Amino acid sequence: MPAHPAFSIHTYGCQMNVRDSDLLARRLRAAGFAEAASEDEADVVLVNSCSVREKAEEKAIGKLGMLCAARRDRPALVVGLTGCMANRLGPDVFGLVPGLSFSVGPRAAGPAIVGLVRRALDGAKGMFVPDTDGRTVARSHGHTIEQSDNLAVSRSDRQTVGPCDRATAPASFVTILFGCNQRCSYCIVPSVRGGEESRDPRAIVAEVREEAARGAKDVCLLGQSVMRYGRMGFAWPEDLPSPMGFSEPLPRLLEYVAREVPEVRRLRFTSGHPSGVTDELVRAMREIPAVCPHLHLPMQSGSDRILREMRRGYDSARYLAAVRRLREGVPDIAITTDIIVGYPGETEEDFEATRRVMEEAGFDNAFVFKYSPRPGTPSSLLEDDVPDKEKRRRDQVLLADQDARGQRCNDRWVGRTVEVLAEGPSLRNPARWSGRTGQNKIVVFDPAPGLRAGDFVRVSVSSARPQTLYGELVL
Ligand code: SAH
Ligand code: SF4
Ligand code: F3S
Repeated sequence: MPAHPAFSIHTYGCQMNVRDSDLLARRLRAAGFAEAASEDEADVVLVNSCSVREKAEEKAIGKLGMLCAARRDRPALVVGLTGCMANRLGPDVFGLVPGLSFSVGPRAAGPAIVGLVRRALDGAKGMFVPDTDGRTVARSHGHTIEQSDNLAVSRSDRQTVGPCDRATAPASFVTILFGCNQRCSYCIVPSVRGGEESRDPRAIVAEVREEAARGAKDVCLLGQSVMRYGRMGFAWPEDLPSPMGFSEPLPRLLEYVAREVPEVRRLRFTSGHPSGVTDELVRAMREIPAVCPHLHLPMQSGSDRILREMRRGYDSARYLAAVRRLREGVPDIAITTDIIVGYPGETEEDFEATRRVMEEAGFDNAFVFKYSPRPGTPSSLLEDDVPDKEKRRRDQVLLADQDARGQRCNDRWVGRTVEVLAEGPSLRNPARWSGRTGQNKIVVFDPAPGLRAGDFVRVSVSSARPQTLYGELVL
């Protein structure tokens, strides 16, 4: 085993996976491993996987296969699978990817990762640690590890900041709600991430504080259905009052985090659901200065029939009413969404309804996904009857609609001065910098000397594209 083995993590999937990868990296660094400069130089490569669509799984399997094949030249290379696919595939993964060192579920991974990597470096293969359920207790290395340990990071690794450490990034994530109980007909997440479980507000504040200590200025609180925070098997601690008079858990949490960690100037939460857009939540978004005027509110479809089949728990009227409450209550709010095209039985009429409702909602941005049947979900029993070509067409139509709509949304910002959290050189043109507004809009501008990532700057917006604002620093 090398003296300081180097690791690399390849992440697929949602922000929760990005967050989990961060925490795994911290644990490995705390245990004396170093972050590899590139995957080619790593002794250990982890693939943190996603099961939400078939494509995501295919990519991860392809990646794992390539890595295991690379063993011809690097026989000692450790290849491990983490994330949602570990739970979905179970031990079958070792048949699909011969030579895989280990596979570990997302909730079990935190406590187990260091031990697994060490044993794999000693030559062990085929080790499997699934999440057993929402309250996983991972049994590995002969002792039982409490699930609550999973996402907590030990103090000792606080100062270790490696080259690719997202923790130095001014924007960061903290998971507040594990799992999901919604059981939308098409979705595999509840079966791979287990049932809903809200974290204690004090543990959340402690983790947000750690992010702040690492330089985070913008923290997004994560849950698959984040507005369900504190609604199941949970009582808000009686000794944590709400000076603003909130009774619902999510507004209380936002108030509590904002008060306890003022260094985090921006707080967000995702993903939303219309049923959670209550008067209290709207008031929290308006009156707590740190809470950003931005909400990702997945709509999935604008057809009431399809929404019913999807078991989303709302129809288009209820969805639009939530959008209206947000727009009336939160000035300048940006609302973004997810849409699935080609759900079984989606007709041209259903699709046109989606186009209409998207227009009415006036989304700032939309992520469009082609329906992908997932094993074990209720909708996978229905015929996947919209041909791929038609799904692609609907996808393209929605993206073109959204481009025009995004342009209109962004044109409203031209001539205004916005506050931007500077993130670093722009990907397209490194001579310029990019950052984000509270609305989560990307702003590109020429940096002033001495500008650092994590600085708040004011930018006067001079032009706009559907996904980006451009402007000049106001000094
Ligand atoms: N918890 C979030 C969504 C997580 S998955 C929510 O409910 O809002 C992210 C997105 O992937 C979903 O919003 C949905 O648009 C899409 N998605 C989920 N399952 C899918 C499937 N089987 N096929 C295509 N897209 C899917
Ligand atoms: Fe999946 Fe629905 Fe849960 Fe989102 S709310 S993770 S779409 S089951
Ligand atoms: Fe994918 Fe798992 Fe997230 S299935 S979307 S990585 S919760």
